[in-house]
Amino acid sequence: MTYARITGTGSYLPEKVMTNHDLEKIVETSDQWIRERTGIEQRHIAGDNETTVDLAEKASRLAIEAAGIDAAEIDLIILATSTPDKIFPSSACILQARLDIHGCPAFDIQAVCTGFVYALAVADKFIKTGSAKKALVVGAEIFSRILNWEDRATCVLFGDGAGAVILEASEETGILSTHIHADGKYENLLWVPHGIGDGFDEVKQGRGVVEMRGNEVFKMAVNTLGRIVDETLAANRMAKSDIDWLVPHQANIRIITATARKLKMSMDQVVVTVNKHGNTSAASVPLALDVAVRDGRIKANELVMLEAFGGGFTWGSVLLRY
Ligand code: ACO
Repeated sequence: MTYARITGTGSYLPEKVMTNHDLEKIVETSDQWIRERTGIEQRHIAGDNETTVDLAEKASRLAIEAAGIDAAEIDLIILATSTPDKIFPSSACILQARLDIHGCPAFDIQAVCTGFVYALAVADKFIKTGSAKKALVVGAEIFSRILNWEDRATCVLFGDGAGAVILEASEETGILSTHIHADGKYENLLWVPHGIGDGFDEVKQGRGVVEMRGNEVFKMAVNTLGRIVDETLAANRMAKSDIDWLVPHQANIRIITATARKLKMSMDQVVVTVNKHGNTSAASVPLALDVAVRDGRIKANELVMLEAFGGGFTWGSVLLRY
C-alpha cells in the first residue's frame, strides 16, 4: 500500500512582532485581557511590501531543504490561503514560478483556518491514487490585511505567517486518515462579508474585513473539535491514549485546552504556538508542526493528530505517523 509521508517541514514568520502592549496603543484593550481570554502574547505582522506568496516561498524552501529533495522533483503544489496575492492567478501558481517548477498541477484551497488540513487531505488522495509522488503543501496568510484595526474584538486575535510540508509517496506508514467537513449555514458567524460579489467597491472602501461573533464561534469550535477527534480515532480503531502529539489550530488557548481535556492528554503533548503567533489561519497548523519537529519534540514514527476549525464553517483532522 502507498502512503503519503511528511518528509520535510518549514515555516516562516515576518520580522515585525506586534505585542499586546503595542495593541494597547491602537485599540481599547489590555495585555491582561488578551492573555486571559486567548493566551496570545504577540503576533507577527507582514511588512508593507510583503505578500502571502513571499511568506509561502520562504517556508517552502525550508521544507524542500529539510526533505532533501530538488524543487524540480515536486509534482503537485497546493496552497491554502484566504488572503491570496491576487484574484488570479492563484497564489500556488505564483509560488510555482518562484520555485522554478513547471508543468505540475498547482492550485489554491480556501477553507479559512481549516485550509491546511483540507490541502493535506487532497494531497494525500493524489499520492495514494498514484497521481503524485512528491507534493508541496503550504498554508500561508496575511490576515493583517483583512482586519479592522479599530475592532478590538477581532484585530487582537490574528497574525501573519506560513508553514509548508513535503509529502512523499512511501511504502512506510504516513498519513493514516483525513477527515474534512463543512456547513455553510454558519457563514455569518465568522466572515469577510464584502468581496467581488459587491463589485469590489466595499472592499476598496475598507469594508472587506473579518467580522466574528466570537462567543458563538468559540462554543461551536469546542464541540466540533471534540467530535472530529472521536470520528478520527473510531475510523482508525484507536484509543485516545495512542496519540503522542496533538497539533491543533492555534485560535485560542482555551479551545486548545478544552480539546486536550477531551482527549485526556497532558498539555505536555500538545503543541502550542498561539502565544507567540496568534491565529495565523491556514498557516497555524503547519507552523506549529514545524516548530515541534525542529525543536525535536515530534520524533519519527510517533502518532500525531492535526485538527482545525474555521470560517465556513469548515473543520477537519489528519492522523499520521510522523
Ligand atoms: N480587549 C478588551 N475587551 C474586549 C476585547 C479586547 N480586545 N474584545 C472584546 N472585549 C470585551 C467585549 O466588548 C465584552 O465586553 P462587555 O462584557 O462589556 O460587553 C467582553 O470583553 C467579553 O467579550 P466576549 O466576546 O464575550 O469575550 P469572550 O470570552 O468570548 O472572548 C474571544 C472573545 C477571544 C474572541 C473568544 O470568543 C474566541 O476566542 N472565540 C473564538 C475565535 C475562534 O476560534 N475563531 C476560529 C477560527 S478563526 C478563523 O477561522 C478565521
